[in-house]
Amino acid sequence: MLTITNNAGGGQPVSMASIRATAEVYHEFGIPFFIDACRYAENSYFIKLREEGYGTKTTLEIAQETFSYADGCTMSAKKDALVNIGGFLCLNDDALFQFARQELILREGFPTYGGLAGRDLEAIARGLWEGLDEDYLAYRLGQTAYLAGRLAEAGIPCVQPAGGHAVYADARAFLPHIPQPQFPGWALSVEMYVEGGVRAVELGSVAFATQEKDGRWRYPELELLRMAIPRRVYTQTHLDRVAETFGTLRERKDSIGGYRMTYQPPFLRHFTAEFEPL
Ligand SMILES: Cc1ncc(COP(=O)(O)O)c(C=O)c1O
Repeated sequence: MLTITNNAGGGQPVSMASIRATAEVYHEFGIPFFIDACRYAENSYFIKLREEGYGTKTTLEIAQETFSYADGCTMSAKKDALVNIGGFLCLNDDALFQFARQELILREGFPTYGGLAGRDLEAIARGLWEGLDEDYLAYRLGQTAYLAGRLAEAGIPCVQPAGGHAVYADARAFLPHIPQPQFPGWALSVEMYVEGGVRAVELGSVAFATQEKDGRWRYPELELLRMAIPRRVYTQTHLDRVAETFGTLRERKDSIGGYRMTYQPPFLRHFTAEFEPL
């Protein structure tokens, strides 16, 4: 499965050349190629803006080419389908589709239910079109670029250029005195909330550190704080407040301490882990 855009690494887009090449490798080895398509519209617009040969194509044409390489996709519709909840699975393989549908009927209900009310399904159907609107996408990518620019001006290290849905601050660079085993990204997310009511998420050692067979921990290169921007919610003034909160934290950053994890589940620990400040 290929996730477009890359949520774990700065929200960066995936080029059409990469999508095509990845699909070829999968198919060479007889493996079905799936796309995690939840940000397909942002990815399509990035391709239009940045990739040679796509400048005159519509985002719809680019999305259609993207999906033409795939055997199926999953979609969390609360991203680029612009709805509050819901999602879907698409499959080109009829046999696999019949199998998945059978499972669905057993466990959840008919595919047309989607686990959702009919009005929510209709909202998804419309949102898939609206999400491709280029004026909306220009505004959307403009917001992340604006916030990343404000942070850069203030000397806050972050991934540049900004991705489509979020700005990713570099917590390791911002809090170099907190070693990775004490979770600098987590510490920064707590301080953002305490200082400014800004909710962000760590994508660093809590999410991605792995334990070796001998028990030692291997830490990821990047220790990021993801500030995802909900679609069609915030104004520029909200983004200014986020930048100002960072400014206030910078004044007292040496006093920010790390964390100790007091509980972790066996899988996906970043969803439910518990911590205490050191
Ligand atoms: C790339 C990606 N795929 C899948 C999901 C899962 O979405 P959901 O929580 O709607 O299942 C998310 C988001 O949270 C995501 O960012």
